[in-house]
Order: sequence, then structure tokens, then C-alpha cells
Amino acid sequence: GNYTGGLRPQVHFSPPQFFMNDPNGMFVDANGTWHIYYQYNPTGLGAGNQHWGHATSQDLYHWVNQPIALFPPEKSVYVFSGSAVVDVNNTSGFFPDQDNGVVAIFTLARYYDDGSAGPQTQAIAYSHDGGYSFEYYDGNPVIDSTSTQFRDPKVIWVEDHWVAVIAYAQEFSVGIFTSPDLKEWTHASNFSYHGLLGAQYECPNLVKMPVRDESGAVVDEKFVLTLSVQPGAPLGGSITEYFLGDFNGTHFATADAATRLTDFAKDNYAAQFFYGIPEGQNAVNLGWASNWQYAQQVPTGNLEGWRSAMTLPRSNYLTKAPRIGWVMVDEIYDPSPILDTPLDTSTFGNGSVAVDYSAVDSNALYIEANVTGINTTLLTSYSTLNVSFTSPSSGETLRSGFYFGGDTPFFVDRGQIRGFDNVFFTDKFSTADVYSTGTDSLASWTFKAVIDRSIYEVFVDGGIHAATVLFYPTQPLTTVNLRTANLPSGTEVSIAIWSLKSAWA
Ligand code: FRU
Repeated sequence: GNYTGGLRPQVHFSPPQFFMNDPNGMFVDANGTWHIYYQYNPTGLGAGNQHWGHATSQDLYHWVNQPIALFPPEKSVYVFSGSAVVDVNNTSGFFPDQDNGVVAIFTLARYYDDGSAGPQTQAIAYSHDGGYSFEYYDGNPVIDSTSTQFRDPKVIWVEDHWVAVIAYAQEFSVGIFTSPDLKEWTHASNFSYHGLLGAQYECPNLVKMPVRDESGAVVDEKFVLTLSVQPGAPLGGSITEYFLGDFNGTHFATADAATRLTDFAKDNYAAQFFYGIPEGQNAVNLGWASNWQYAQQVPTGNLEGWRSAMTLPRSNYLTKAPRIGWVMVDEIYDPSPILDTPLDTSTFGNGSVAVDYSAVDSNALYIEANVTGINTTLLTSYSTLNVSFTSPSSGETLRSGFYFGGDTPFFVDRGQIRGFDNVFFTDKFSTADVYSTGTDSLASWTFKAVIDRSIYEVFVDGGIHAATVLFYPTQPLTTVNLRTANLPSGTEVSIAIWSLKSAWA
């Protein structure tokens, strides 16, 4: 692949060329190698002809593209989303002489010659070489069906058996199945009509996560069920929601009736959690950094021959936040492998810093801001920290920032980025994404962000709020400006701006 294009992310995963959507089959092996597979059309710039692409990493930032792992098994039968597990104890019987056998489970989607959809069934394939090459099981399908809308199995191990969650997409139901061996599956329960329904449920995940207190100590563990819905997201198109609760091996019971979104912008869908994370550690996920509303139209296709990237890797746990109750924290996974040079470190109250980063080869930055000592009784609606990125040559600006006194304290606005003046595209694209955290203000805030040519990701308040925002400037953004105004005296803002090393150079 050619990763030099001006819109090509340098610290995010994107496919060598052509079209990518959902992450699939993600696991970490016993040697610490991270494997991602992904929905891949190796012959076109939109969805269709779905295969499983494959890449590996030692640190979740530097990726090695691997040969395609799963090809369509027959004409007009495509390999849709699914998951993979390491069958350490050879429950499947595929691996008599090894403890690193990998089993992938996924949807086969049949289409007829007139273009109409046939049944979606669940199939498995096994790998004797640690996930690099797979053979289809000759007993497929392992879960048969006549439905055209039954897909995206995600498998985990729970105590003494395998559990799969699978979407009955247009029945707004997640089927929960159990198996001793990944081959024979029994339907155990359904989780139906929860949260935001949209037009369909896709890509369910069930994952156990530590619960941490304010000091970060693990005090409990709970299950999280995520569901991707589309179309019908509050900001349009596709989005992922989650529920937290308990899982007894066959049934998921929510802890409360709340619907929560994993991301407050528009460009994080179908996230999947890695299989193989040791008990008690944070979960780790990557999402597809796009939205079905425009994923197949974004200008990287015509200009650079690729479409879609994954989000940054994220580390996840649950906590009870004082103002908003139970939340899943979505924090950037240790960025140290990509940090290059500090370009600026400053501390001030009311003030600003501007950095010209046109000399940074990657055109990518990592930014941290810690705001402490806010006398909240003196905040006004003009108490702000603005973070903006500009192209001096085109004047395009990506804006974001805090309104510390408001009840929607952080926003991202890509409306002053041209997106190549495609009317359809900018119409869907130029929304100011604003989130609300409730009316109480905080005495301190943290902010972490990565800007990577055409993706901006922000992690606010320790990752309690995260957002993924695509933007397509006609010229590279090369100056960053951080500016505070009207902060109560005593407030201290400390900033660090780092250049990033390209993970693809
Ligand atoms: C979600 C999805 C899945 C399906 C896959 C096909 O983005 O629609 O439900 O398996 O994409 O590529």
C-alpha cells in the first residue's frame, strides 16, 4: 500500500487500498501480537465483494498488512462481519497438537443473480498457523437460518462455555447462543428492543470489563453489551450504543434503562473488543472510523484510492462518574510508541499558544491539556478553551473546545473544512458536534487529542467523553492554536503538543 497521500492517516490503521468497513475477528495472541481482520472489498471503493483483510501489530499503532485471510467461499456468497477466538484447550477438536489454534466465526451472506439478498448463516473457519491462513469447516453452516437479516456473531468464553451474540438485525434483537465446541450452538435467550433502535441492529459485542473507582483501583467487574444501529443515529447515519449489566452465561440483564453512546460525534461504528485480554485488565477496542451516511463517498476514494480507517485503539473500563452515573471510559491506548518531539509545553491562565507544524512530516499531532483549579462559582458562558487547526493557505479551520461554564462543555465543528465542496457530502458533514454532560461544572478537566491528516479524535475528562471526527481539508492543516478566555483567576492550564512519528513511513 501507498500511505503517502495527503489525507492518509499516519497513526491510524487504514487498508492498503480500496474499501474497508467493520473491524472483525480481533484477538491478541499469547506472544502479544495483535491481530485485526476487517470487512474488505479488494476490488472496489465501496462496500461489496466482502472479504476479511488482515493486519498485525505489536503495539496497536504500527501495522503490518497481511494477506487476505478469508475469501468468499463461492460465487455471490460474501464473508460478512464476525469474530475470532484462540481455542487454547482445543474444544473444537481442530487442534490436537497445539494451543494457539484460531477459530473465526462470521456471517456468510448470499446474494441471488437479480441482486436480491438470500439467507445469512453463521459459519466457522480454523487456522493452524496462528491466524494467518484459514480453512473453512466442512460442517458449515454452524447456525443455519432462512433470514436475510441475521448476522455478525461475536464469540467470547464465559466460565465453561462459548457464548455468541448475533444480531437479528431488523427484529431489533440480539440472539445469545451457547456452545461447548464452536460447532454445535444452542439458542439461549434474546435481548430485544433496547435503546435506540434505528433501522437495524448490527455488530453486537458482549465483553467483561473492570469497574474502577476514582483512584483507578478495580472494585468490581461487569458486562457491557454494545450494539451498532443504522440508520437512525441522533446526528444521522450510524452510531454505537451500549448497555451495562450482568451476564449469567445465558442471559444479559441491564443494570439500568439508560442508553449510552460510545462516541459523541458521527464517525465511530461497529467497534469490536479484542479477544484474549487477561482477566481483570481493561478491555481494548477499535471501531470503524466512518459513517454509512457517507463512507462510500468520502474524497479519499477518488483522490487516493482508499476509503476508511479504524479509530485509534482504546482502553475501556467502567466507572461511576459523579455527574452522569455509570459510564464506559474510552481512553486512548498508550500513545508512547508514536510520540516524536514535544513542540510546545506551556502553562498559563488566560493566554494562548500557537504552533506552526508545517515542518512535521507526518502532519499528525498529539495534544494534552490539563485544566485545574477552576473556581466554578466564577465561570461564565464565555469561559473557554479553544483548540483549532488551520490551513494558512486555504483558510480552512477545524474548531473544537470547551465552554467550561455551559452544560454542553465540549464541541467539535468541521463546518469550516471544505470537504472538497461536494454538496451532498458537506451537507451531511458540516455539523457542529456538541455534547452535554449535565449542568454541574467541574473544577478540573483533562483533554487528549490526536489529529491525523483527516481524522481528529478527542478524549475529554479522562475518556468519559470521546469523539471521532473525519474531516477532509483541501490543503493540509498546519497551525494549531490553543486559547483560553475569561477563566477565573487561579485556573491553571498546562499544555503539551507533540509531533507524531508516522507509523507507516
Ligand atoms: C455493519 C455491517 C454488518 C455486516 C457488514 C457487511 O457495518 O452492515 O452488519 O456484517 O457491515 O460488510
